[in-house]
Amino acid sequence: MVIKTVSIKQAYKQWAGKYEQDLPYLFESESEKIMPLLGNVKGKRILDLGCGTGRYSIALAKKGAIVTAVDFSEEMLSMAKDKAKNAKVKIDFKCIDLKKKFPFKKESFDIVLSMLVLGHFKNLEPMINKISKVLKLDGTCMISTFNPNKEGGKMALVQSLGLDARKYSQTKEEYINAIKKAKLSLEKYLEIKFSKQAVFNAKKDGVNLKPYSHKPFLIAFKIRKKINF
Ligand SMILES: C[S@@+](CC[C@H](N)C(=O)[O-])C[C@H]1O[C@@H](n2cnc3c(N)ncnc32)[C@H](O)[C@@H]1O
Repeated sequence: MVIKTVSIKQAYKQWAGKYEQDLPYLFESESEKIMPLLGNVKGKRILDLGCGTGRYSIALAKKGAIVTAVDFSEEMLSMAKDKAKNAKVKIDFKCIDLKKKFPFKKESFDIVLSMLVLGHFKNLEPMINKISKVLKLDGTCMISTFNPNKEGGKMALVQSLGLDARKYSQTKEEYINAIKKAKLSLEKYLEIKFSKQAVFNAKKDGVNLKPYSHKPFLIAFKIRKKINF
């Protein structure tokens, strides 16, 4: 296969239509671990950074959260807006480049999510500092990213479309340092593998995930903005 290197925006423009169908077992295994960690979100103000097709935004809005969902890909946002409409949930969608200054008030969100996004950023620190600013005191931030020891994230794009978008593989330690520098506390570190349910569902679809099921393909961080850091 000829691999073409494209910009991140270009990659998601092409991937938007089949993004969720491409990685169903990975997404299922991730959200199975992450959703319970967010607790009761009813009435909570949530900011979903790099919301993509709205996997988390929509699930959380269905649970009664007040969601602001941002992304710079018009095509990913368009998929998310259609899904929200079908699910009959209201979400404040914004087309924003996260590298620019955030247009949000200080300490205005109870929960900030950045799921499978920060691997697209060369420098973690500016992003985690911006997250810290918009998070309320005692608020929670959840970050997931592809395991730097695996090339899973890159491979997904490469295998699906023959495209390679810019992607960085920061280590667990680099995340932990950026979290500490932003005066946030790491509450939980997770390594996420394919869940039993995902392996079972894949088998029903004729896909054998067993050989990969022991490998943590994602890492995730549950972070808190403590009142007395
Ligand atoms: C792998 S997808 C993750 C989508 C969603 N969070 C999820 O977990 O399914 C990464 C998303 O980050 C967005 N993204 C990457 N760089 C961005 C930037 N600088 N500003 C805004 N969005 C960005 C992409 O457009 C894409 O929708």
